[in-house]
Amino acid sequence: MARVRLEDITRRFSKSVAIADISFEVPDGEFWVLVGPSGCGKSTILRTIAGLDAATSGNLYIGDTLVNQIPARQRDVAMVFQNYALYPHMTVAENIAFGLKMRRADSNTLQERIETVAQILDIAHLLDRKPRQLSGGQQQRVALGRAIARQPQVFLLDEPLSNLDAQLRDGTRSELKQLHQRVGITTIYVTHDQVEAMTLADQIVILERGTIQQIGTPQSIYAQPQNRMVATFLGSPAMNILPVTYTGSGFAIAGQTIPCPAALQSKLVPRQQLDLGIRPEHLQISPDSGHLITEVSLSEPLGKETLVRVTLPSQRSLILNLQVSPHLNLRQGDRLPLTLDLTHLFLFDPGTGDRLYPKSY
Ligand SMILES: Nc1ncnc2c1ncn2[C@@H]1O[C@H](COP(=O)(O)OP(=O)(O)O)[C@@H](O)[C@H]1O
Ligand SMILES: [Mg+2]
Repeated sequence: MARVRLEDITRRFSKSVAIADISFEVPDGEFWVLVGPSGCGKSTILRTIAGLDAATSGNLYIGDTLVNQIPARQRDVAMVFQNYALYPHMTVAENIAFGLKMRRADSNTLQERIETVAQILDIAHLLDRKPRQLSGGQQQRVALGRAIARQPQVFLLDEPLSNLDAQLRDGTRSELKQLHQRVGITTIYVTHDQVEAMTLADQIVILERGTIQQIGTPQSIYAQPQNRMVATFLGSPAMNILPVTYTGSGFAIAGQTIPCPAALQSKLVPRQQLDLGIRPEHLQISPDSGHLITEVSLSEPLGKETLVRVTLPSQRSLILNLQVSPHLNLRQGDRLPLTLDLTHLFLFDPGTGDRLYPKSY
């Protein structure tokens, strides 16, 4: 096992910069998740670590070794992709053994590793089958098995669950986490799915357009997002963003005013434009004295709760998310006064998206 350290890694393609000045260090044995929208550079980072792509500049260390010039097959990393690419003419056992055979493992070691891996991944009964005789989830487990069997220093996973249906994805996700708890190989996992990031990661690296937006534990990033992109990317339903104007005592939007906490008033300038952020769980329906009068546009029962989308009567393009009790029977057009929990308010710069408030934690 080994730590992985990226130092100012940049990858330029002829016309564009795919990733810029990427620096982070994954300590030995940790599980890190790189997350961000499609095209933000996740795969490029992973391929650079694997040695399948070369950085334009920057240094990459695995353990204490600078590996910039070391070819992929000598880096002792195993990578699993979204489309698992098993060898169709080989059995499951042969597929698992393949990487080991390439490394000239003796037959006792081979047999032992195949059995261990098959047991961990619950595929022992499938060892004699060919890939086409397996379900998608089983094939993906074999692909993971092939990577684990090699006992690499570092495990790289690029959206390994995105081809699985929802139920299988949830199951395999938990298995992956348990697997990591058992074998403890340093793992870097790429996904565009914020739920996978939140549930799997020791630390999350959030990327957008080739740059790191924030690094932190799932909890700290959720509670203390550094900018609007991070704030709206993590969390489902997403944080609500209201474009408001500061009046001197409140935040005006579409003819209504949300009160501004007293402690904050001295820090703002009248007529200042702000993006006000509030998570769905910090919006309450309050029949008496709501901060905002809204109107129900869609109600989606999820069983244990109902997801409601509301608009402002004079600005219907603005949609806010909230979660309500499943017992509330809301219909389109219903008038809904909302109170914001002002202790959980965020303010972002509408231009840069940087968090202005809270200023620090
Ligand atoms: N071989 C390539 N040639 C040119 N541009 C590329 C190449 N590979 C990736 N890119 C560009 O680099 C950016 C990041 O891509 P990628 O790392 O695949 O993103 P992600 O995995 O986050 O979806 C994208 O804009 C993509 O178009
Ligand atoms: Mg990708």
